[in-house]
Amino acid sequence: DNPALIDTFGRVATDLRVSLTDRCNLRCTYCMPAEGLPWLPGEDVLTNAELLRLMRIAVERLGITDIRLTGGEPLLRPGLEDLVGEIAGLRPRPRLSMTTNGIGLAKRATALREAGLDRINVSLDTIDPETFVRIARRDRLSHVLAGLAAARDAGLEPVKVNAVLMRGINEHEAASLLRFCLDHGYHLRFIEQMPLDAQHGWNRADMVTAEEILSLLRAEFTLTPSRQARRGAPAERWLVDGGPGDVGVIASVTRPFCSACERTRLTADGAVRSCLFSNDETDLRGLLRGGADDEEVARTWRMIMWGKLAGHEINDAGFAQPIRPMSAIGG
Ligand code: GTP
Ligand code: 5AD
Ligand code: SF4
Repeated sequence: DNPALIDTFGRVATDLRVSLTDRCNLRCTYCMPAEGLPWLPGEDVLTNAELLRLMRIAVERLGITDIRLTGGEPLLRPGLEDLVGEIAGLRPRPRLSMTTNGIGLAKRATALREAGLDRINVSLDTIDPETFVRIARRDRLSHVLAGLAAARDAGLEPVKVNAVLMRGINEHEAASLLRFCLDHGYHLRFIEQMPLDAQHGWNRADMVTAEEILSLLRAEFTLTPSRQARRGAPAERWLVDGGPGDVGVIASVTRPFCSACERTRLTADGAVRSCLFSNDETDLRGLLRGGADDEEVARTWRMIMWGKLAGHEINDAGFAQPIRPMSAIGG
């Protein structure tokens, strides 16, 4: 018996995103302030055993088929390779991916692949070292590029690249980022900036929209809609100059894909969230540490997802940003 994570709109969550830590070694301006954030106290963060138990319940009892590890920065999690190996040992085996900033990946890509990681998404907003420092407030572009190459060489494919464009900062790099990714065999996706930063500095007028991104690219490339199935994936994809290279646009704000959402999320301190944008969180850590059995945890998780809202309300008057920033929810 395997009653799925279904909501009142008929959506079924098969994709679990797990934040392994709220910490990060970059300070991207669209994410957190220069001084960082008050990190979660160590005792609040789930142990590897607790994380693994929740993931086991998710695949054995809740129909989860895909697990994505996120952060903060997941490579900062102690014992990551061991955890990956244990997740890959779950049955039925989930497809396993990770979203990372790529720092330190150069040395670890092969071990992660051997432990059972299937594929990887790396954030890269610029290929100009000075612009990188301006955005991420750390001089680490070469580390990220080395990480990307190592991921590809280790077979963590497809290697996807996430880029957030910001007006007056890196929007002029749209075409050169795409050229770079095509040349290296990475699948680039541009992301509309969302109101999830800790400083609450997002404003709609500054956001580079999907339409703008496409017209910037069309000045240099011919884009034709990709016929590959999208299902719950956030990216709309285009073939570039007839293919096989492609580019994606994640238009979370101007073309919300909430009605096709297949996601459920677990924060590093053990709360389940039915949506990136909902403040509705339910603590499972207390249940685990209080001795609840697997079925009680599963039942609670099903109840949380049943209450999932129709979608985010970024485009509605009166929208309020979620209390937790993206780095603490999991990207
Ligand atoms: P794959 O396409 O399967 O590789 O995964 P993904 O694109 O979901 O993964 P990734 O973690 O790289 O996320 C890319 C971007 O999608 C994030 O930066 C977000 O902007 C956006 N995104 C991820 N999850 C959600 C979500 O639940 N809601 C919304 N609105 N956007 C999301
Ligand atoms: N809006 C859109 N994307 C964001 N990311 C981080 N903060 C935001 C935001 N406010 C991206 C990162 C990473 C992915 C997980 O989310 O660049 O690639
Ligand atoms: Fe770190 Fe990602 Fe936030 Fe940048 S966007 S500071 S890499 S968590």
